[in-house]
Amino acid sequence: MASTPLSIMLKILTHRRDSNSPQSFFFFIPTALALVTSLLILFYISFISKFFTHSHQTHLTFTRSSDFSSFNSTSHKPVNISFLGSMQSFGTGGIGNVQSQRHMELNGKYVNDNAVFHDRDTFMNDYKEMNKSLKIYVYPHQKADPFSNVLLAVDFEPGGNYASESYFKKVLVTSHFTTKDPSSADLFFLPFSIARLRHDPRVGIDGIKDFIKSYIFNISHKYPYWNYSNGADHFYVACHSIGRFAMEKAIDVKINAIQVVCSSSYFVSAYIPHKDASLPQIWPRLGSEPNLAPYKRKKLGFFAGTINSPVREKLLEWWGNDSDIFVHFGRLERSYTEELLDSKFCLHVKGYEVNTARVADALFYGCVPVIIANHYDLPFADILDWKHFSVIVATLDIPLLKKILQGITQQEYLMLHSNVLKGRKHFQWHMSPVDFDAFYMVMYELWLRSSLRLQ
Ligand SMILES: *[C@@H]1O[C@H](CO)[C@@H](O)[C@H](O)[C@H]1NC(C)=O
Ligand SMILES: *[C@@H]1O[C@H](CO)[C@@H](O)[C@H](O)[C@H]1NC(C)=O
Ligand SMILES: *[C@@H]1O[C@H](CO)[C@@H](O)[C@H](O)[C@H]1NC(C)=O
Ligand SMILES: *[C@@H]1O[C@H](CO)[C@@H](O)[C@H](O)[C@H]1NC(C)=O
Ligand SMILES: *[C@@H]1O[C@H](CO)[C@@H](O)[C@H](O)[C@H]1NC(C)=O
Ligand SMILES: *[C@@H]1O[C@H](CO)[C@@H](O)[C@H](O)[C@H]1NC(C)=O
Repeated sequence: MASTPLSIMLKILTHRRDSNSPQSFFFFIPTALALVTSLLILFYISFISKFFTHSHQTHLTFTRSSDFSSFNSTSHKPVNISFLGSMQSFGTGGIGNVQSQRHMELNGKYVNDNAVFHDRDTFMNDYKEMNKSLKIYVYPHQKADPFSNVLLAVDFEPGGNYASESYFKKVLVTSHFTTKDPSSADLFFLPFSIARLRHDPRVGIDGIKDFIKSYIFNISHKYPYWNYSNGADHFYVACHSIGRFAMEKAIDVKINAIQVVCSSSYFVSAYIPHKDASLPQIWPRLGSEPNLAPYKRKKLGFFAGTINSPVREKLLEWWGNDSDIFVHFGRLERSYTEELLDSKFCLHVKGYEVNTARVADALFYGCVPVIIANHYDLPFADILDWKHFSVIVATLDIPLLKKILQGITQQEYLMLHSNVLKGRKHFQWHMSPVDFDAFYMVMYELWLRSSLRLQ
């Protein structure tokens, strides 16, 4: 005991108390406390200042943050980031930056082996395994169930802003992933639809929390599966942002279950990165994907939407009158489609939520997405390397937007554009699923999480 600082202090204390007057004892205690407090404050300040100087860079590193969940992917190894070295020299580089520049020098030329993937080979191997083995048990409901409108798949082709939610369920229930045998299931699907609950007059926005609570109560009493892991092998899928509050009376769902949601912001406490998964918000566009050559795109940047957030206000403030970056907050003169086809870069800017259908729209129309939405856990970011087919800009860098976009060389743009064409298939739904489409990608994210659980 003799040599630890604490024991020395105690010794001094007791010594003083024994030999001296109580006055010096009462002098010593406050002095020691003041010293310790100042040290703590100094430590806190140094910590906080580090935090501030780095927070501005998170946007380029955060797409890596979910690498975690693909525990066996080679994403732990350095990824050879192809050509973005020059873009990152805008001072927007994160941890990956140093590495990528080193690789560029090593290689001496731009490489594009992995195109849109972090590691294509690992993904392909895992995907085949997932496709063969993953089994889902969907809690069964009958047409006669009073809430069948919310619990069963819709009998029409889903459309609009929240289509992803309905599409997923519709495709899942007829896919080869479902099993009628719960004992062979890897995961259990809670089939309620948040968007449909919202429009059900018996439930509505105010009733969603109680509905979910009651639903979990019912299945956990009727079936034994929920109780086995308190919901850890259960999942639900939601695209409407109202889902963020829906689990407040069923806290086990939030804490344990896998939440596959469009509003995947790691700034929001309802979403737990790595456990939960990001669902792409996709407004299904009709017809086949347009294949417009990149050089036919006249405008540098394009955005259309309402001003409903400080980020969009900032965009308007800086680029509202610009002749290269077209920012529309009212009616468009031309159609949205024409604008997307005529622009090199299409801006996705955070509104109420980090997510909108604009990223998938940009990809569909062959426009390189520019993502201005801090803390957005981008869909499939553990599989796809977003830096290869999009430009991620921090909100703080909105004043530099034009400089960043103009700084992308023609060669770099052609690479981004060709990767957009390669990557866009992952952001589409089909009534009969097509390998590597949005449905299969979500299944893969679920498989990663279910295999994590078994490890
Ligand atoms: C991880 O990957 C390696 C090499 O691809 C493979 O041999 C191994 O079986 C994988 N492990 C798991 C747990 O899937
Ligand atoms: C990166 O590039 C180097 C040099 O071409 C190569 O040796 C290495 O295997 C590559 N790494 C990855 C992860 O692709
Ligand atoms: C995945 O499974 C489906 C259905 O069995 C099959 O049609 C498809 O070819 C499989 N895809 C791959 C890449 O194995
Ligand atoms: C749960 O079960 C009760 C009793 O059968 C039923 O009244 C209620 O509607 C069920 N709740 C949900 C959300 O299905
Ligand atoms: C699950 O756990 C709850 C609460 O502990 C309990 O009331 C319920 O009976 C259990 N369900 C089954 C099917 O045993
Ligand atoms: C755009 O220009 C108009 C007319 O010159 C001016 O009134 C307006 O404040 C400008 N808007 C922005 C966002 O700079």
